Amino acid sequence: MEQEYSKIAPYYYYIGETRGHFKTQQSFLSEILKNNNRTACVLDASCGTGDVINGLSKMHPFIEFYGSDISKPLLNRAYNQPYLDADNIKLSDWDQISEIFSQNKMDIVYILGNSIAHTNSIDKLEKIFFEVNKLLKTDGLFIFDVRPWYKNIKEESFNEPYKGKYIRIVNDEISFSYKTNYFYKNKRHHLQHIIKDKEEREIVINFSFLDVSEVILIDILKENNFYNVKLVEDFDKYPFITLLAKKCS
Ligand SMILES: C[S@@+](CC[C@H](N)C(=O)[O-])C[C@H]1O[C@@H](n2cnc3c(N)ncnc32)[C@H](O)[C@@H]1O
Repeated sequence: MEQEYSKIAPYYYYIGETRGHFKTQQSFLSEILKNNNRTACVLDASCGTGDVINGLSKMHPFIEFYGSDISKPLLNRAYNQPYLDADNIKLSDWDQISEIFSQNKMDIVYILGNSIAHTNSIDKLEKIFFEVNKLLKTDGLFIFDVRPWYKNIKEESFNEPYKGKYIRIVNDEISFSYKTNYFYKNKRHHLQHIIKDKEEREIVINFSFLDVSEVILIDILKENNFYNVKLVEDFDKYPFITLLAKKCS
């Protein structure tokens, strides 16, 4: 998986920006921050290129923003974002995250963009919830999403305008085209990007995601010391599953 992110790293920002991916997350999170005006510390625990927290940091200058991710090539952009403190950006697997950041410190930890579904099993998911719980203050908020791409597309409950078509991105910095395929195999959702670089060389990038229902996610949140679990219905092309939960004391 990390190798796949290394391959996509030079293109990641341009694909995300074209799809409005970063702005959608920023406006969703910014509303939550406005409604939680005592928020002091926020961690994006799959910050990737840092574009989401960088935008939030610009919009909310009095909040301290932290970021972590397992992909060095993506983080290289995060370290150089203008509104982020590079010392607050850490290379970390979710498994070790409570050793990297202070425990009981974060008001909000979020893992968005279908990141958490990269895990291989429900056991691993439980371990992540346990780790996130340690980082949060009591009543701190955990926000994450899971995107059942293939299921949604098959049921046509999600209108994916980019499916199977080459999209061309050309600007002063880069020139490439890419298309995205979705399929379901071995009980996992799969997303494949095919990138054609400016020399028309093909780069194939494969990601796979855990197939997990909202009911199971809510159960394991409750088993791992979270309460007040809420399903968000108006974020980024619902029926993606986006959940908010608070840490119990
Ligand atoms: C789909 S990308 C989303 C990135 C970012 N949140 C966004 O929305 O643009 C998934 C991210 O999860 C990170 N990731 C995957 N497995 C991880 C792990 N075990 N620990 C930490 N980060 C991980 C990847 O490196 C990647 O940056």
